Amino acid sequence: MAPTDGDITHTGTPDGSVQAVILVGGKGTRLRPLTLSAPKPMLPTAGMPFLTHLLSRIGAAGITDVVLGTSFKAEVFAEHFGDGSKLGMRLSYVTETEPLGTGGAIRNVLPELTADTILVFNGDVLGGTDVRAVLDTHHSSGADVTIHLVRVGDPRAFGCVPTDDDGRVTAFLEKTQDPPTDQINAGCYVFKRSVIEEIDAGRPVSVEREVFPGLLAHGRHVHAHVDTGYWRDMGTPEDFVQGSADLVRGIAPSPALSGPRGESLVHEGAGVAPGAVLVGGTVVGRGAEIGARARLDGAVVFDGAVIEAGAVVERSIIGFGARIGPRALVRDGVIGDGADIGARCELLRGARVWPGVTIPDGGVRFSTDV
Ligand code: GDD
Ligand code: MG
Repeated sequence: MAPTDGDITHTGTPDGSVQAVILVGGKGTRLRPLTLSAPKPMLPTAGMPFLTHLLSRIGAAGITDVVLGTSFKAEVFAEHFGDGSKLGMRLSYVTETEPLGTGGAIRNVLPELTADTILVFNGDVLGGTDVRAVLDTHHSSGADVTIHLVRVGDPRAFGCVPTDDDGRVTAFLEKTQDPPTDQINAGCYVFKRSVIEEIDAGRPVSVEREVFPGLLAHGRHVHAHVDTGYWRDMGTPEDFVQGSADLVRGIAPSPALSGPRGESLVHEGAGVAPGAVLVGGTVVGRGAEIGARARLDGAVVFDGAVIEAGAVVERSIIGFGARIGPRALVRDGVIGDGADIGARCELLRGARVWPGVTIPDGGVRFSTDV
């Protein structure tokens, strides 16, 4: 059984000179319909809300004072994490009534910030970055802002960040079709508090499209910390499935997970019938049922879902309480909470089924044999 997030305590030497801010106010549109009912950082990954993995990484670096910048479904975070004491942390929440964007969200939490050094994280990044090393780079260069960068095969979906030979950032190009380098913004920054004070208050501001280009245009020192650790933005179904499987298999690090890891993770109260095959980092949520001879490969099955006998689920997310009928096939799909997929249906290549929808037996096929 995986630990619940109540089992986690920070392990680093406490460092009160640094506070962390996590941006969790996005709507998670690319993960709909799952994000209709839960904000993206609260979706279960390897048995706990995704945000628990990020919080445990911050705690492991000795940073215990964390502010969540919330907007969409703001109340869900405090309901789950409370004041953070169960994690050995001090959590506070600042909610935007209207979304202020990434830069506006950082500016909006300023009243909670007392430290001079502020670490900011996008709330959907799974990674193994050494947070202390990012802070060391920031302090030794004396920069106004330090940005954590990683290298990816296709930078177009990210912020592209060229640097010079001294490691100084020379430009910030958010989601450009013509990226000049494979270095991208990994969604972790170190700010001097005074730089956050300079961001306009009370209006939407993008840190990527406005704050960073503005600092560079004024000749301010923005530095890069490049590393090669595990890194994945969990914002799309493909990445969510892959990141979840990597956590289950131990490819993605998380201080929140302990014990041996393997091809699958089955949580308490779940039932797996004889002959079912669970591979590829499959995770089965609490109280879920997997029928005889079902085959799950890289499947993310949320709590209470049912996969009937002989069904096949590959690289797909099955929402809370959804049912996949006998001998149905779901490949690269997202099935919303409580949806009911009839026997022998085939849902392939990015299919998304909205919550509560019923598809009758044999109702969707990609082939003519039944
Ligand atoms: N509080 C608040 N308010 N948070 C927000 C808002 C807002 O208005 N808008 C977005 N966020 C949060 C999201 O919840 C997420 O955790 C983070 O900010 C980044 O938003 P995404 O929507 O996930 O952005 P992205 O993945 O397209 O791009 C960003 O991340 C990439 C790395 O993962 C950018 O920062 C890119 O430059 C970067 O490469
Ligand atoms: Mg993202």
